[in-house]
Amino acid sequence: MGLGTGEERACFSWVLFAMESKLFNLKFPTNKRQFEAQTEVQVKEEMGWRGILGFEYGIVQAPLGPDISGPELVAAVANAGAIGILRAPDWECPDYLRELIRKTRTLTDKPFGVGIVLAFPHKENLKIILEEKVAILQLYWGEVTKDIVLEAHEAGVKVVPQIGSFEEAKRAADTGVDAIIVQGHEAGGHVIGQEAIISLVPRIVDLVASRGIPVIAAGGIVDERGYVAALALGAQGVCLGTRFLATEESYAHPIYKKKLVEMNETEYTNVFGRARWPGAPHRVLKTPFFSEWRNLPSHENEANQPVIGRTTIHGVEKEIRKFAGTVPNKTTTGDLESMVMYAGEGVGVIREILPAAQVVKGLVEGAQILIKQHFTS
Ligand SMILES: Cc1cc2nc3c(=O)[nH]c(=O)nc-3n(C[C@H](O)[C@H](O)[C@H](O)COP(=O)(O)O)c2cc1C
Repeated sequence: MGLGTGEERACFSWVLFAMESKLFNLKFPTNKRQFEAQTEVQVKEEMGWRGILGFEYGIVQAPLGPDISGPELVAAVANAGAIGILRAPDWECPDYLRELIRKTRTLTDKPFGVGIVLAFPHKENLKIILEEKVAILQLYWGEVTKDIVLEAHEAGVKVVPQIGSFEEAKRAADTGVDAIIVQGHEAGGHVIGQEAIISLVPRIVDLVASRGIPVIAAGGIVDERGYVAALALGAQGVCLGTRFLATEESYAHPIYKKKLVEMNETEYTNVFGRARWPGAPHRVLKTPFFSEWRNLPSHENEANQPVIGRTTIHGVEKEIRKFAGTVPNKTTTGDLESMVMYAGEGVGVIREILPAAQVVKGLVEGAQILIKQHFTS
């Protein structure tokens, strides 16, 4: 990069300082003069990792359906200072959900969140989340209403929807949410994201900047490089699904975890779970089974297919049919190779299954090193 003149170098330093400000939670100077006035000593004194939404770090572990982000994973993430999010069942089961939250509290005394998919029955579950006063209510795939946000705020719960378009972000911001997760098309699992985060995130950052709503980028981020890139786009946090799926504490089946390490390619598709959750595209690993069936005729779905396995989800035993949208968890038996395996585009960078705390530490320390070693003159 040609940073010839002193003026250019000063400008570049200011851009870097802006990135560091987000990363280290410094008071961000709004002009170059303020930047120059902020001495190096001040910078060092103020440096800290206060994160977002009252958490230590701006790192979010995405809720992983249907039960992959269970108490063990969420507690491990919370204990590491990041934002762990449980996933509420897709059916009303308030007592079970209360137990799930309480079990998580036996493993951590740190705050955490619960995610709800609004496309499924959720009213009773929502009541429990508010009664239990978890720190964060994460919402996905449905309209966020002012009523939900008000109710949550009255209970002292922060609301963080995951959205996939500029219009959806606008509607969510108008309801008074506390932060917005912007999901890009790169994301693993079900994908509401309509475009890549490199274009979507800055637009939404500009949209909500004046309202002080932190933007969290989701999709394809698995390490410090993605973290720093998201900060450069204006995000204050990152939300990772696939990277936390590939951890020791996730409730994914060991064979699924092994595939996340071995395989590099994903595809955006609608082959799986068409009957249960119509109109919900998803990104999956390009397994041999998926490659064979990727052009599944549009009239086919899982409903009339043979049973290929069994599983227990949130305490309920279920059959898994061919082309079902159910990923293999630790209890799943049967033909696992033919089951859906969601993953984001960053999967090719995942080389090993790690403890969740190590993922958090790697992101935080790696980002600091990356900025200091590679982007400062
Ligand atoms: C296995 C799996 C399950 C997911 N389940 C949910 C879910 O229940 N609710 C939700 O809001 N997002 C869910 N997501 C999407 C994540 O919130 C997030 O957008 C995505 O994981 C980000 O992309 P990445 O996987 O490349 O990190 C899921 C993702 C994966 C990989």
